[in-house]
Amino acid sequence: MSWDRQIHIKSPDEIKIMRQAGRINAEILATMKNMIQPGVSTADLNAAAEEVLKKHGCYSPFKGYSQPPYPASICTSVNEELVHGIPSKKRILREGDIISVDCGTVFEGFVADSAMTFAVGKISAEAKRLMEITEGALVAAIDKMRVGNRTGDISAAIQNYVESRGLHVTREYTSHGVGRQMHEGPQVPLYGTAGTGMPLRPGMTIAIEPMVLVGTHETRTLRDQWTVVSADKSLTAHFEHSVAVTEGEPLILTVP
Ligand code: MF3
Ligand code: CO
Repeated sequence: MSWDRQIHIKSPDEIKIMRQAGRINAEILATMKNMIQPGVSTADLNAAAEEVLKKHGCYSPFKGYSQPPYPASICTSVNEELVHGIPSKKRILREGDIISVDCGTVFEGFVADSAMTFAVGKISAEAKRLMEITEGALVAAIDKMRVGNRTGDISAAIQNYVESRGLHVTREYTSHGVGRQMHEGPQVPLYGTAGTGMPLRPGMTIAIEPMVLVGTHETRTLRDQWTVVSADKSLTAHFEHSVAVTEGEPLILTVP
C-alpha cells in the first residue's frame, strides 16, 4: 500500500463499509485504553490489537507498509516519540508516561485509521494539557469538514488552535485521504491558510491527525527508520479520526 494521490469520492454504500471498519478500529482503541497501565509492554498492546482484528476477520494496513516494511499492526509512540513507534517487548510502560496508539483496520477492502494518546497512571499537568490541546485541535478540525470549506480551513484550524496555546504542529507529517488505500489524496498539512486548497465535497473521507509537540516543531527519525521523535526530546501527542464529508454534519467513522 502506498500513496495514491488521487481523491476518491465514496458512495453512501462505501461510507457504510468504512463506518463498520471504523467501529472495529474504535474497539481496538477501547481495548488499548483498558489495558494501558504501568508494567504493560507495547508488544502486549500490539498482540491485543491483533486479537481484535482477527476476531473480526480483519487485518492491519500498517503491517508490511512501505520500505523498510513496517513490522507491526499498530504504532506505539511514548512521550517524545511523536508517531510510528514500533511495539517491543522491551518497552515497558511506566507511571507518568503518555502513549499514542495509532491503529488501522482493513474491512471489506476499506481502511479505517485512528489514534489516541493515553495516560499511564498519574501524569504531569504539562502532559495532560498537551493531550487536551491535541484532542481539541482534532475536534476543531473535524468541525471544518463541511461542504463550502476547503482543505486549508482544516489545516488552519489545527495550526491556530495549537499555536495560539503555545504548542507546535509537525511540518513533516500530514492528514490524508483514506479509503481503499490507507493514504489517498488529499494530503492535508497541519498548518496552512483558511480559504485555500481543495474544496470539500460529500463522500470525501479524510484521516485527520494533529501531531503536536511541546518544544519546537522539529522532528527526527531514529535508526530503526520508523520512530519519529521530537528533535528536542520534548513531549508529544497525537489524536486521529477518519471522517467523512456529508451534505450535513461531518461523520466521524472511527467511533463505536
Ligand atoms: N496513522 C498513520 C498514518 O496515517 C499510520 C501509518 S503507520 C505505518 O500515516 F506504519 F503504517 F506507516
Ligand atoms: Co493516518
